[in-house]
Amino acid sequence: MVVKNVCCIGAGYVGGPTCSVIAWKCPDINVHVVDKSEMRIKQWNSDKLPIYEPGLDDVVKECRGKNLFFSSDIEKGIKEADLIFISVNTPTKTFGIGKGRAADLKFVEACARKIAEVAEGHKIVVEKSTVPVRAAESISHILSANTRPDVSFQVLSNPEFLAEGTAVTNLLYPDRVLIGGEESAGGDEAVAKLMWIYTHWVPKEKIVTTSTWSSELSKLASNAFLAQRVSSINAISAVCEATGADVSQVAAAVGLDSRIGPNFLQASVGFGGSCFQKDLLNLVYIAECLNLPEVAMYWQQVTDMNEYQRTRFAKRIVECLFNTVTDKTLAVFGFAFKKNTGDTRESPAIYVCSHLLEEGARLNIYDPKVEPKQIEHDLTSSSVTDDPERVQKLFSTYSDPYEAAKDAHAIVVLTDWDEFKNFDYKKMLDSMKRPAFIFDGRKMLDHSALIKLGFHTETVGKRFARNALLRASGEHFPAFSWTP
Ligand code: NAI
Repeated sequence: MVVKNVCCIGAGYVGGPTCSVIAWKCPDINVHVVDKSEMRIKQWNSDKLPIYEPGLDDVVKECRGKNLFFSSDIEKGIKEADLIFISVNTPTKTFGIGKGRAADLKFVEACARKIAEVAEGHKIVVEKSTVPVRAAESISHILSANTRPDVSFQVLSNPEFLAEGTAVTNLLYPDRVLIGGEESAGGDEAVAKLMWIYTHWVPKEKIVTTSTWSSELSKLASNAFLAQRVSSINAISAVCEATGADVSQVAAAVGLDSRIGPNFLQASVGFGGSCFQKDLLNLVYIAECLNLPEVAMYWQQVTDMNEYQRTRFAKRIVECLFNTVTDKTLAVFGFAFKKNTGDTRESPAIYVCSHLLEEGARLNIYDPKVEPKQIEHDLTSSSVTDDPERVQKLFSTYSDPYEAAKDAHAIVVLTDWDEFKNFDYKKMLDSMKRPAFIFDGRKMLDHSALIKLGFHTETVGKRFARNALLRASGEHFPAFSWTP
């Protein structure tokens, strides 16, 4: 039953934390995390890890150099391993058939070919990357077509359900560990070996085994369901703004139904992250390929609603600022796609900021963890602007939120970092242009306190009576689209 050496190809947001936790919980196993990016490996071996995750530094410090190793020697990692995780990225294709929807499996395929080329003896190959249904079959084909007489493989699916920002906790206390394997003696043995690793810290009843294809589809379905909940409550938030209902109250009431439950019912500026959008689009593509257009349209709407929510929020900012933001300064708080991560992939902030930049706004951006270089890369990339030079001149990054807010016409909150709740908004208001606006895209601030201070406050899924009162009293306030 024993697995002595594990190799993980891909030292990213999944491979890094997952294998650090495996090394920490399994001192009897040597874990080698390998990556083709020398830079990433250098960072994993330094004091400043390439990703920010609460608790991760301590886990890495505890194991690195003992039974946890980061290296760019991929071939050595593969050769020595009994079990190999493939944790490489599977982004949406940007060209060719399925462009903009299908998952690009070129990195997974490259791993399979490398394993086939250098492996010796028997290897268990575990697909941890999120992949379309039946990808394991393709990996098996590549491996078996390139097998030498002394080499054999078993391919398993073991999708990862961690959420960035809480990855270490999710890995330590998973809701479930899902393992899909081939229904054969060899398949059963491989599943048992992978289970054995997890049973070092995960209760057996939380480890679920299924067929390989069910396992692959379960991961896509889980992300689609989660994203669908966000889009559902965001759709309701638009109705709330149009009617005067409060989406927080509606979400609380809806969530009390035990069939629905309270989680993932927070209205916001929209979901982001590397997975939801990509996995939804992948599911849509699969449904289309299977000639299931109604299914494809159903899931497509979840991502369309997300785009609508981001655009709606950006447009509302412009409307509230008297229908123009040209040459106005807006302080943007938060650029990561959610709190406790420095990851900006598909962050709603990118889309809201680029809409505002298109309108000629000047943005002062503050995020506690995202590197200025990343912000620059995201806002000037060809997928969001066709005039990067113009955009470059319109935004600046700040390490002090008070400096970012100085002389600004508005504050725009785009990430739910806890520290934003504790800022001295009175101090900020005193340094801002009047009327001073605050747009809370995360519904996280104390709105009554802000209104009392004198901020014109806007948030998702709620309209404030005080704003309406000010309008009625003749103060110059813009006409909102929902004004009765
Ligand atoms: P990532 O982009 O952070 O890391 C992938 C790493 O793989 C990169 O460092 C890249 O250099 C490396 N790589 C690519 N091809 C390689 C090759 N041929 N040989 C060696 N290294 C190679 O990606 P992330 O976020 O870790 O995602 C990995 C997979 O896990 C994706 O399929 C994703 O959908 C899935 N996933 C991601 C989650 C997340 O929260 N980020 C959560 C659950 C699943």
